[in-house]
Amino acid sequence: MKILAVESSCDETAVAVVEDGRRVLSDEIASQVALHRLYGGVVPEIASRKHMEAIYPLADQALQTAGITRADIDAVAVTFAPGLIGAVLVGVNFAKAAALALQKPLVPVHHIRGHIAANYIAYPDLELPFLCLVVSGSHSLLVDVVDYTTFRILGTTRDDAAGECFDKVARLLDMPYPGGAALDKAAQQSAPGKYPMPHTHLSGNPLDMSFSGLKTAAINLIHHAQQKGEALDVPALCADFSQAVSDILLPRTLAALEQTGRKTLAIAGGVAANSKIRGDFLRETERLGVRLCLPPLSLCGDNAAMIGAQGYYEYLAGVRAGQDLNAYATMPLDRLP
Ligand code: KG4
Ligand code: ZN
Repeated sequence: MKILAVESSCDETAVAVVEDGRRVLSDEIASQVALHRLYGGVVPEIASRKHMEAIYPLADQALQTAGITRADIDAVAVTFAPGLIGAVLVGVNFAKAAALALQKPLVPVHHIRGHIAANYIAYPDLELPFLCLVVSGSHSLLVDVVDYTTFRILGTTRDDAAGECFDKVARLLDMPYPGGAALDKAAQQSAPGKYPMPHTHLSGNPLDMSFSGLKTAAINLIHHAQQKGEALDVPALCADFSQAVSDILLPRTLAALEQTGRKTLAIAGGVAANSKIRGDFLRETERLGVRLCLPPLSLCGDNAAMIGAQGYYEYLAGVRAGQDLNAYATMPLDRLP
């Protein structure tokens, strides 16, 4: 079964063709990053306009790369939430038009479910259930993936998302948007230890996370140095910051593995590209004999192949949307439109 998949929730316009959920026939992306970099972050209005310009030719390109025609498409899947509302709407409207014109089913896909599904592409032999740590620009979640459309949220951030903190700190260090990757690169040139970061203790659910204290500590450190005219050892600061994020994520993930008894851990979302996090998780899962699924960097960030992968399983579960499908800026992972 061939699914035409559409993703436009942030600053990447993406269209893919995915066969039976795990085989990518094409995966086209038009990134707007260079444009938004001029403003230090995503400008929603510009993102929507660029999505509109890019989406039609990109869909044609996706069909061409896949070596198929419109008639070969069996269903259309689209990110309907969460994301920048004007941006998501462009993809949703395109997908509705495509489904109507082709007379094929329309399948709504939650963006974060898509991130989790990137693992089905990277690891075609991945079996469910498994535990998934989702770390993106706007989400930090520990999710028990019970089956393809049943998700139990075990822990979540109480404040900021991990990616948000990477981006904020990177921006203060004058790194280009999106800062996470640049901060990661700088961190690799140093070792942690010079700038000890605070560890936040939370009451309540031990699997919940908090990043705002860490973010504030890093911001204060940078501001104080600037006010005093002191030079900062930027790579060392980046190394300590990355270490601190990993120190929040790792113990909670290990506790969730113990709590659920799952023997497979998958990581998903843009922050899963972080080298410190990847290294720490590899080491610890190896020690514990847990299988670790770490998608390649190209599947960690936003793409449409992951939407096609999840779209296939949503389709099998009977999930459909009509021409009244709307886009939503926020939506719980376990809810359908
Ligand atoms: O999943 P994603 O592409 O978009 C959302 O759905 O939010 O995640 C983007 C986030 C940004 O905050 C970006 O800075 C971060 O992922 N990111 C990284 C790295 N690469 C991307 N954060 C830390 N280290 C990286 N190597
Ligand atoms: Zn994303």
